[in-house]
Amino acid sequence: MSIDAGPVGETGELLRVVAIDGPAGSGKSTVARRLAERLGLEYLDTGAMYRSVAFAAMAREVDLADSDAIVEVARTSDIHIDDTSVIVDGVDATTQIRGPEVTRSVSTVAAISGVREVLRVRQQAWVVERGGGVLEGRDIGTVVFPDAELKVYLSASAAVRAERRAGEVSALDYETVAADLAARDAADSSRQHDPLTQAPDAVHIDTTDLTVDEVVDELIARLG
Ligand code: DC
Repeated sequence: MSIDAGPVGETGELLRVVAIDGPAGSGKSTVARRLAERLGLEYLDTGAMYRSVAFAAMAREVDLADSDAIVEVARTSDIHIDDTSVIVDGVDATTQIRGPEVTRSVSTVAAISGVREVLRVRQQAWVVERGGGVLEGRDIGTVVFPDAELKVYLSASAAVRAERRAGEVSALDYETVAADLAARDAADSSRQHDPLTQAPDAVHIDTTDLTVDEVVDELIARLG
């Protein structure tokens, strides 16, 4: 019987990785950020990477229907993500990657298998460079780090998720945000490559009626 010990670093040491997946507005970013702080690990928002590729494609005026060209954008774009900013090809894209244009096109970009492959390799390298981390996205526990120490799937009611997102994007009304969210969830969950699904061994937490600290405390208890 082989025992899968988990992701390892450059000198063969076991790396602490927490994988958090779930739909938009389920609380992934807030929970992942606070959990990383409590564990003394770094945090990576992988959705920001997909958004950065969509931003770079638009900046280079690449047709979103041209998959090969989008893969080339993913391969050649210089993306720097830290706690406060996102720099894409030397341009500060922190605000624009959250804007309606990128939000509407990102599911198309994220559905391209070649893009996913490029970003998966970058996410795995990010963890090795930092000696572990807390990563959030849609396929972290299923594809990027199936051997993570802890895998988490967060969910929340559609109404609460839309309320949370509407609170973040003040320029759009609740109905528009709710409709965009539903469309994006459907696309992310039904795509052919690495769709959003819960890993069989992931801890499932419904965050609808929970505070961030309640969720984080539960995860810390699971890590032991
Ligand atoms: O978490 P977010 O809403 O910022 O993610 C933006 C998009 O990127 C989302 O529609 C799905 C996609 N995504 C993905 O396919 N895989 C990931 N690991 C993270 C995000």
